[in-house]
Formats: sequence, structure tokens, C-alpha cells
Amino acid sequence: MTRQMNWIALIGMVMIAGALGIAALGEPGRLAAAAEDLHTALVVEGIDLYARNCVACHGANGEGIAAYPPLTTAGAMDADMLTKTIERGRYTTAMAAFGAEEGGVLTGAQVESLVVMLQAESWDTVAARVAALGLTPPQITVAEIPAETLSLVAALPDGASLSAGLTLYAENCAACHGANGEGSTLAPPLNTDELRVRLSDADIARLVREGVPGTLMASWSSALDAAQQQAAVALISRWGELNAAGVRLPVIETAPLEASPEAVAAGAGLFNLLCTQCHGFDGYGSAIAPALNNQTFLSQTPDAAIRQIIAGGVTGTTMPAWGGYLTDADIAAITLYLRSLEPTAPIIAPAQP
Ligand code: HEC
Ligand code: HEC
Ligand code: HEC
Repeated sequence: MTRQMNWIALIGMVMIAGALGIAALGEPGRLAAAAEDLHTALVVEGIDLYARNCVACHGANGEGIAAYPPLTTAGAMDADMLTKTIERGRYTTAMAAFGAEEGGVLTGAQVESLVVMLQAESWDTVAARVAALGLTPPQITVAEIPAETLSLVAALPDGASLSAGLTLYAENCAACHGANGEGSTLAPPLNTDELRVRLSDADIARLVREGVPGTLMASWSSALDAAQQQAAVALISRWGELNAAGVRLPVIETAPLEASPEAVAAGAGLFNLLCTQCHGFDGYGSAIAPALNNQTFLSQTPDAAIRQIIAGGVTGTTMPAWGGYLTDADIAAITLYLRSLEPTAPIIAPAQP
């Protein structure tokens, strides 16, 4: 619904009220009811727009996903500030400009519905609607740390901070940096002597806080509070002590995907529809996006990481976050399809940065 239509609807209601007689116009309850209907319509429209455009980063309950901030208190911001944030985005962050005048996809009236919806703060309704549309983002895998490993770590000097760091590392960082900080094709190792010589605690703190724009390394400043960031920094700068104490975490086990031929076919269909324009026919790559039908990439990238990249996209590149558009099952099916290419995939050397 456009802004004009909302006004026409409101004026129409007032005129009908007038036609029904002076008595009706004199009844403030009717006008209030019309305004209430209009408000409800805007909230309903805003929820659908939210489900399609915002859920991938801000979550079905507005709780914020991974490094992206929650919006549960955004309703308290003034309407003007909210409108500006949505229309213009936040420069140098993943928060894009959504306003049509800024090259985005939303009209002024649509942004207005989003603002009204955020101010209504009815997150239960939002989550229910997002689920009904099948747009609930997939859960990112969380690694379990065995109790005996945690007690081994807790016995080290200032062990409480180290085990807090390790727990949040397993939840937030291991999918890319490896269960034991050994690195992967997605991200460099964090457990080496070389890193500890090259980076001071202040350097590591800045990397965690600001991320590295244009790479998979997001800014963690809104997902982790200052104490959590400090625990992550302490973990990385003291990883040598963990190595010396023989602390080894089990490699993340994701629930195995159901590799039925139907799921692989469904994944191939989605891939042809959504991904080939950039990643090329059968995922062989193109000038604008890397080959995924690629022995090196597939053999070195666990399913959990592939799913995380598809759901979260790559900030600062054209790789979209699909979490808001595809269900967990869709993303699992695409991952299965990519995995099915592995036996015949050509060996392609990783791109040099
Ligand atoms: C690709 C991820 C992404 C998507 C999609 C996204 N946002 Fe954001 N959003 C962010 C990030 C990152 C920030 C924090 C920016 C900063 O650091 O100031 C943010 C901040 C915001 C804020 C300010 C919150 C505050 O407390 O200051 C609002 C409001 C907001 N987003 C609304 C939306 C709406 C509405 C949509 C959908 C139309 C949307 N966002 C889509 C990533 C995203
Ligand atoms: C989605 C994948 C991903 C996740 C999750 C991730 N990182 Fe990173 N990280 C990267 C990439 C990619 C780089 C390399 C960036 C570059 O090219 O400079 C990186 C770089 C770093 C560096 C700098 C390493 C160096 O040698 O310069 C640190 C420190 C770091 N990450 C810490 C973390 C921490 C702590 C977490 C969890 C809170 C985390 N990362 C989560 C992908 C990720
Ligand atoms: C608009 C273009 C575009 C579309 C559409 C697109 N991608 Fe991407 N994708 C990219 C780019 C560019 C990169 C490389 C990002 C970088 O520099 O790290 C990428 C990276 C990836 C990676 C990581 C590859 C690696 O070597 O690290 C995966 C996995 C991926 N995309 C999967 C998908 C899937 C699955 C789809 C469809 C659902 C898709 N992409 C659609 C542009 C796109």
C-alpha cells in the first residue's frame, strides 16, 4: 500500500462516516477506530517487509544474528532517526541504504510502515509471521566443549577468563577459524606464534571490534559486549598456553544432512535459479564470482561453513545473505548439491588475496 492510498483510505472512511450522518462524525470512537485500522494495516505491511528484507541480519524476533545488532529497543528511537537509518543505511557497515532515493528497494511509504512496525514492538507477531512465510533464518551451528576440557582450561592461571573466551570462540568463531584456531580456507589461523608476535592485544581487540571490511570477518562490536570481546582477545593472545597444556577441542559435528536424491535435486534447482548468474553454469565460476564446483574449496570447507556463508553472505561484496530468503532446509539442500559436485570437481588453486 502506498502512502497516498493510506490517506485516501482514511479520507474515504471519514467521508463514509460523514455520509452516515452527523451523529457518526460526532462520535470520536469511530475516527479512533479508523486510525486504529490504519495503524494495524501499516504494522502488517511492515512485518512482511521486515520478513523479506531484514530478518537475515536482525533475526525473526529482532534479536540480532551473529555480529548484527538487535532491534528490540530500536522502537524507542525517534521516528525521524529510524527513517533516516533505514533509508540511508549506516555508512561503512553492513546496514545498507534501503530507500529508493539512495538506490535501495523500498519506497518512502514502505519505510514508513517499517518504522511504525518497529515502534509497535510486537516481536512475537513478527516471529510468527516470519515462520509462516518460511523465512526464519537457519540456526548457526554451536560447538559443544567437553566438561573435562573446560576444567583443564579453568585450572590455568586466570582460567575463568580463558574458558569464557573458549566458549564464545566455539560458538562464534570456530566455523571459520577452525575448532582449535588452526584456520581454514575461509579464515586464517588464530593459534600460531607468528600471530602473537605480529599482533598486540590492542591490534586483536581492534580486529574483533571493527572486523575487516570486504572479508568474512565481521565487526563483533554489537554481538559481543566489551567483556566478551576482552575474553576473545585474551584467548587468542594466550593460545600458546592452551597448546602447551594440550587442550584440544573436538572438531564441530553438525547434524548430518539427509542426502536424499530429492534434496540434491531441490538444491540444484535453487542453485540454477539463484546462484548461476554470478557463480556460473554448474558453479564453474565467472568473472564476478568464484567457482564453487571446485575441489579445493569443497574439500576444505565443512558443510557448516558453507551453510554459514550462504545464510550470512559476504559483507562488502556482492555475495548476498540468503538467510532471509531461503529456509534452513533450502540452504541445506544447496549445500548438499554443492557437496554432490565434489567427486568430479576440478582442482582450482585458491585465489591469492
Ligand atoms: C546485511 C545485514 C543487514 C540487513 C539485511 C539489515 N540490517 Fe539493519 N543493521 C545492520 C548493521 C550491521 C547495523 C548496525 C550499524 C551500525 O553499526 O551503526 C544495523 C542497524 C540498524 C538499525 C539501527 C539500530 C540501532 O540501534 O542503532 C536499524 C533501525 C535497522 N538496522 C533496521 C533495519 C531494517 C528495517 C532492515 C530491513 C529493511 C535492516 N535493518 C536490514 C545490518 C543489516
Ligand atoms: C564467517 C567467517 C569468520 C568468522 C565467523 C570469524 N572470522 Fe575472524 N577472520 C575471518 C577472515 C576471512 C579473516 C581474514 C581477514 C583479512 O583478510 O584480513 C579473519 C581475521 C581475523 C583475525 C586477524 C587474523 C590475522 O592473522 O590477521 C582475528 C584476530 C579474528 N579474525 C578473530 C575472530 C574472532 C575472535 C571471531 C569470533 C568472535 C572471528 N574472528 C570470527 C573470518 C571469520
Ligand atoms: C550477485 C552475485 C552473487 C550471487 C547471486 C551469489 N553469489 Fe555467492 N559469491 C559472490 C561473490 C562475489 C563471492 C566472493 C566473495 C568474496 O570475495 O569472499 C561469493 C562467494 C560465495 C561462496 C564462498 C566461496 C569461497 O570460495 O569462499 C559461496 C559458498 C557462495 N558464494 C554460494 C552462493 C550460493 C549458494 C548462491 C545462491 C543461493 C550464491 N552464492 C549467489 C557473488 C554472488
